[in-house]
Amino acid sequence: MPQNASDTAISALTDWWQAMGVDVETLPASKTEPPPPPRAVAKQAGPSGAPQSPQPTSKSTPTARKNAPERFVESWTEDARQAAAEAPDLAALKAAIIAFDGSPLKPFSKHAVVYDGVEQPDIIVIGESPGHREDEAGLPFIGQAGQLLDRMLATIGLSREKNTLITNVNYWRTPANRNPEPNELAVCRPFVDRLFDICVPKLIIAAGGVSAQTLLQTKTGIMRLRGQLASYQTESKNTYDILPIFHPAYLLRRPQDKSRAWRDLLQARAILQKHGLDL
Ligand code: URA
Repeated sequence: MPQNASDTAISALTDWWQAMGVDVETLPASKTEPPPPPRAVAKQAGPSGAPQSPQPTSKSTPTARKNAPERFVESWTEDARQAAAEAPDLAALKAAIIAFDGSPLKPFSKHAVVYDGVEQPDIIVIGESPGHREDEAGLPFIGQAGQLLDRMLATIGLSREKNTLITNVNYWRTPANRNPEPNELAVCRPFVDRLFDICVPKLIIAAGGVSAQTLLQTKTGIMRLRGQLASYQTESKNTYDILPIFHPAYLLRRPQDKSRAWRDLLQARAILQKHGLDL
């Protein structure tokens, strides 16, 4: 049967959400809204995603790396594992990530964006990838989404100055702010694990679908994952509580979901209070 205009709009919207990794229930046409702008535009103010200040790498060209055979990715991941294991503290880990040449994204970015916040955090918030502003400054979550994240954390007594460390599952900006590829995430993973094991947080908040799906190794969308406390095990077999929440960039596009995000934040606060934090 041919689709009418509203069916077409619903189907386009549903496809869009699914492409973003979001689980969608079919809604009656009257409850839908026009699709939000594509993520690459809405997430960060980066103008074009064009390569900036390319940094040469010692191992191969970016193109070769993007299509790298699995054995190369494994070898870069092994390099990352060794470098991460040798880092005794956060400063050394940050230096190791900055020196690391195994990410296909490194030649396109200005900075490795590692972390911001206190060095002995009660809580780690982990997002996806740095955007344009973050790449310029070398600090995570400082653009519009980052400012919303700071406001969200402040509502439950958390801040980068007091008790929180903020990081990402991928340390280098992606071209046009696209989602990071599995091989790009794989080489970061040993560093992510080491960061958790150095900090030993009471709770990890995974901000957004990419972060939650990467850490929990699932394809389940953020609509289902958010607010569900899960367990994360590092390669060294240490386990941490992890709570997925909506990405603040998503909430900027869908402010009507802020009430759900608020429920998740209250849950995070209750978990931290159980650990004796006075929030
Ligand atoms: N979005 C992220 O996921 N991380 C950042 O650092 C900035 C925006």
